[in-house]
Amino acid sequence: MNRHHPILVIGGTGKTGRRVAAKLAAAGHVVRATSRSGPFVFDWNDPAGWAAILQGVQAAYVTYQPDLAVPGSEAAIAAFTKQAAVAGIRHLVLLSGRGEPEAAACEAIVQGSGLHWTILRANWFMQNFSETFFVEGIRAGELALPAVDIPEPFIDADDIADVAVAALTDIGHTGQVYELSGPRALTFAEAVAEIAAATGREIRFSPVPIDAFAEGLRAYGLPEDMIALVRYLFTTVLDGRNSETRDGVLRALGRAPRDFADYAQGAAGVWAPALRAAQG
Ligand SMILES: NC(=O)c1ccc[n+]([C@@H]2O[C@H](COP(=O)([O-])OP(=O)(O)OC[C@H]3O[C@@H](n4cnc5c(N)ncnc54)[C@H](OP(=O)(O)O)[C@@H]3O)[C@@H](O)[C@H]2O)c1
Repeated sequence: MNRHHPILVIGGTGKTGRRVAAKLAAAGHVVRATSRSGPFVFDWNDPAGWAAILQGVQAAYVTYQPDLAVPGSEAAIAAFTKQAAVAGIRHLVLLSGRGEPEAAACEAIVQGSGLHWTILRANWFMQNFSETFFVEGIRAGELALPAVDIPEPFIDADDIADVAVAALTDIGHTGQVYELSGPRALTFAEAVAEIAAATGREIRFSPVPIDAFAEGLRAYGLPEDMIALVRYLFTTVLDGRNSETRDGVLRALGRAPRDFADYAQGAAGVWAPALRAAQG
C-alpha cells in the first residue's frame, strides 16, 4: 500500500462513497472521489471516459448505479474490471446487495477478474431514512411505503465505509465476502417508531399496496425502469430472505455494527425541525 497512489471511490458523493472518501483522506490517502460532475468524473454510461480516471490508481471502491440488479450491470462490471486490469489497479472493493442473484453475478465477474477483490454485500442502509429515499416522508410525519411486515437488519453507511476503508488499505481483507447487516432486524413500522422516539415527534408508517405505490411513482414522473427496480426491491428482495443478521462488520473490524436507535439519535436533527414546524 502506497499512500501516494490514488484510491478511486466511484459514487464518491453518495451515502457510502463520500464516507469512504472522507475516511481515506483523514487517514492520509490520496483519493479520487468521483461523480458525474467534476472534479473527478466517472459515469457508468460512458465507458470511453473511464481510462483517464483509472490512470495511476492502486485500488477502487466500486458502487454501481442505480443497482447491480438492473439489466446491463453485468456488462458494465465486466467492461470496468477489464479496464481496471489494463490500468494496473490491484484491488477492487465492490459494494453489492444481499439477496440479489443479479448482484451475485456481478460479484462473480469481479471475483474472476484476476485482481485482488473484496465483496461488501449489504442490507438496506439506515441512511435511506435520513439522506435519500425516505427522508421527505419522515419529515412530513408520514412514511408511506409498499413494505410488508418483513424485518430488515438495516446497516449504518458508516459501518459499510469503515469496512470498505479497511479492505482498501489492508491486504488481509483480500478474497473476503463480508455480509453487512445491522445488529437487529426491524420492520419499517418499527424503524419509524425508533425515529419518532429519537425526535420526540409523531411519525406514522402507512403501508401501501405495491401497485398503488408504483402508480404514484409513475404520476410523479419516475421512469419505468426505476419503477421496476423499486417493485423488485420491495417485493422480491424484501421477502424475508435478508432478515437474519450477519456478522460481516464483526469479522472485518472486530467490533459490533451500530444499532438503529443510535443512528436515529445521531440523525434526529435531520428530521426534527421539519416535524416541529408541522406539528407545533
Ligand atoms: N441504499 C441501500 O439501501 C442499498 C443497499 C444495498 C446496496 N446498495 C447499493 O449501493 C449502491 C449505491 O447506492 P446509494 O443508495 O448509496 O447511492 P447514492 O447515495 O444515491 O449515491 C450515488 C452516487 O453515485 C453517483 N452516480 C449516480 N449515477 C451515476 C452513474 N450513472 N455513474 C456513476 N456514478 C453515478 C452519484 O453522484 P452523481 O449523481 O453526482 O453522479 C453519487 O455519488 C448501489 O449499487 C446500490 O445498489 C444500496
